[in-house]
Amino acid sequence: MVSVSRRAFLNRSMAALGAAAFRYPVWAQTNTSAPSVSARLLLGVDYYPDQTSEARWEEDAQMMAETGFTNVRIAEFAWALMEPAEGKFDFAWLRRAVQTLHKHDISVILGTPSAAPPPWLAARYPEIVEVNAQGEPLHPGGRRFTCPTNQTYRRLSLSIATAMAHAFAEVPGVIGWQIDNELTLSPSPRCYCNFCQAGFQAWLHSKYGSLDNLNRNWGTVFWSQTYTEFTQIPVPLPSGGDPNPGLALDYDRYQSYANVSFLEEQLGMLRKACPRHFVTTNNVGPPVDYIDLRDLYKNLDFAALDNYPGFFEMLLHEQAKATDVSWDFINTTVALEHDFARGIKGGKPFMIMEEQSGKAGQRTFSPQPEKGQVRLWTFQAVAHGAMGVNYFRWDTATFGTEEYWHGILNHDRSWSPAYDEIKQTVKELKALGSEVLHSQYPAETALVFDYDCDWALQIQPGHYALRYMDQITSWYGSITASHTGIDVVAPGADWTPYKVVFAPLAYVLSEAQGERIRSFVQKGGMFVSNFRLGVKTETSQIVRTPLPGPLHDVMGVTVADYVPIYSGRPAVRFSSVLSGPDAEVGIWMDVLQPSGAEVLGTYTSGAHAGQAAITMNSFGKGKAVYIGADLNAENLARVLRTLAAQAGVTQPLEVPSGVEVTVRAAGNKQWMFLLNHTPALQTVNIRRPSTDLLTGEAHNETIDLSAYAVRVLQAG
Ligand code: GLA
Ligand code: ZN
Repeated sequence: MVSVSRRAFLNRSMAALGAAAFRYPVWAQTNTSAPSVSARLLLGVDYYPDQTSEARWEEDAQMMAETGFTNVRIAEFAWALMEPAEGKFDFAWLRRAVQTLHKHDISVILGTPSAAPPPWLAARYPEIVEVNAQGEPLHPGGRRFTCPTNQTYRRLSLSIATAMAHAFAEVPGVIGWQIDNELTLSPSPRCYCNFCQAGFQAWLHSKYGSLDNLNRNWGTVFWSQTYTEFTQIPVPLPSGGDPNPGLALDYDRYQSYANVSFLEEQLGMLRKACPRHFVTTNNVGPPVDYIDLRDLYKNLDFAALDNYPGFFEMLLHEQAKATDVSWDFINTTVALEHDFARGIKGGKPFMIMEEQSGKAGQRTFSPQPEKGQVRLWTFQAVAHGAMGVNYFRWDTATFGTEEYWHGILNHDRSWSPAYDEIKQTVKELKALGSEVLHSQYPAETALVFDYDCDWALQIQPGHYALRYMDQITSWYGSITASHTGIDVVAPGADWTPYKVVFAPLAYVLSEAQGERIRSFVQKGGMFVSNFRLGVKTETSQIVRTPLPGPLHDVMGVTVADYVPIYSGRPAVRFSSVLSGPDAEVGIWMDVLQPSGAEVLGTYTSGAHAGQAAITMNSFGKGKAVYIGADLNAENLARVLRTLAAQAGVTQPLEVPSGVEVTVRAAGNKQWMFLLNHTPALQTVNIRRPSTDLLTGEAHNETIDLSAYAVRVLQAG
């Protein structure tokens, strides 16, 4: 059932909170400074000695060393072997596995096993199971079926992790930890059980202080929901009508928080027990969005994401029931994930903890990666800021739910089709070395990703087809089509490095965020947003002033009306700097009344013909652009690229479609990555003589990229 879980989960997310600042006082915060990983090469593989006969370990370790791997991640699902009965620990086998690997110079990242509690635990403590959004309890038998709030589950998770930490703190070869595995990635990412209800009530008590305050902030007088005791507050399970939006948004924040604090219990312990080891966890970035990853990784040493472009392609096929899906869309979405990963810790290089190495799938197989694609995917991650990559997985299981998930060895232990290119890639990355892998990623533009907006719009999309994630993806794709460097940032990030900040669907807008936007524009930045700007307060109430609320002077407009569109699409006529062919409006239009802003687009048909659709306002030393009309990808790309150029944003190279360009830099050194995502030969005009660091070849004016080829260029 796990396969269904993952698929259903991703499907839902694709088809589709920062309570970050708030902390429940009981759960420990950890801020102990972490060991530096800046010189370490993490080029490894995910390995399952627990699922492999011990007679094979020596051979496996030797083959890994011959491949060039520096490390493995192990044990993240081995709870049943490590604690066969409550309180009875057995780490002897794991110690032998670590020793065998270490003998071959393979370092070890240990996974704490809380994602898969053993049957004895679920049988003895049935109350640990998660309850889904329909109010039905999950059942043991898969993985990730537990409640993040439940104290028994937390106690037992911490207990096995603590026993592991003490057993391995000083074992040579162990270098770091992965806590749990992909928190919230399951068919029911949020839990709605009684323990979570009590946890939610306590969290609300801390957040709001009093019931009066809570009732006022949620507007509970509506439908007679005034609470007179905290214990009366429900969780958003099915009722006769949808829940209060303030309650629903706070519940999403609480669930994110509960998972983060679950992780931090183990983190606090690991910092004390294993001060020499780094600590991280693995997850997948948006479109999986049930946990605020910035909050999750806040006290971890680096972000680590899992990357399965081919599996993603399979899901898109299933959804669209199509024979072909656009690889451009896949590349762009994967690039967005990587840029998001880099942004999780403010630009710090991240790790890919699981990189697809072959056909992937649980019930069905993804397509076989084309020759060169696994190397290309690896370099794409590095091109966007990865400092390490682990391939998933070493061998391919012949039993269990993931028998179809191909690793580096086939079922019969022959090498997989991608083996040679993986070996080559590892060698190449080692040659590039830690200076390149740990370098920075310069960006002149930023795209704001705000969990509050995402969650609030899932609760009340306003139009059935309006999805935050879709807008984020299409804005990201529109901007990066010109290969300008972009950071994906939190609303509260430091925006001073950027010439332009793009913030689509900034629907929930705190006062502090409004101030940040105001000051960014005042000081000379360009802020670009679109319809539904500043509609809601942080407690999910609609603002009482004309839209865009407190930003009306910054944007230089008032929203005269906002219009969901179902049929009869109006068009926009562009003017001034945006001049170009008319564009049809998609699913939404905000009708703008300029109060000082220049009109760059006008509705030409329908009830609002002649009224402003797109405006640009000069405010302080900067500009603020309001795109009231929902535009298709082509028009949006033209508009956003024109605006970026207006703001003086530079692009490294003009390249053919399907070729990606990124730049990483350290001091005054720069490395340009060229990635050919197409199966055809592509020729790129490079602007200055450069050397390809992978081949040592010098190139003057043009450079050829064969199918799925990668180049890493250094000027001179
Ligand atoms: C995820 C998990 C792994 C494994 C792979 C393949 O990323 O972290 O445990 O399940 O997917 O399904
Ligand atoms: Zn629960």
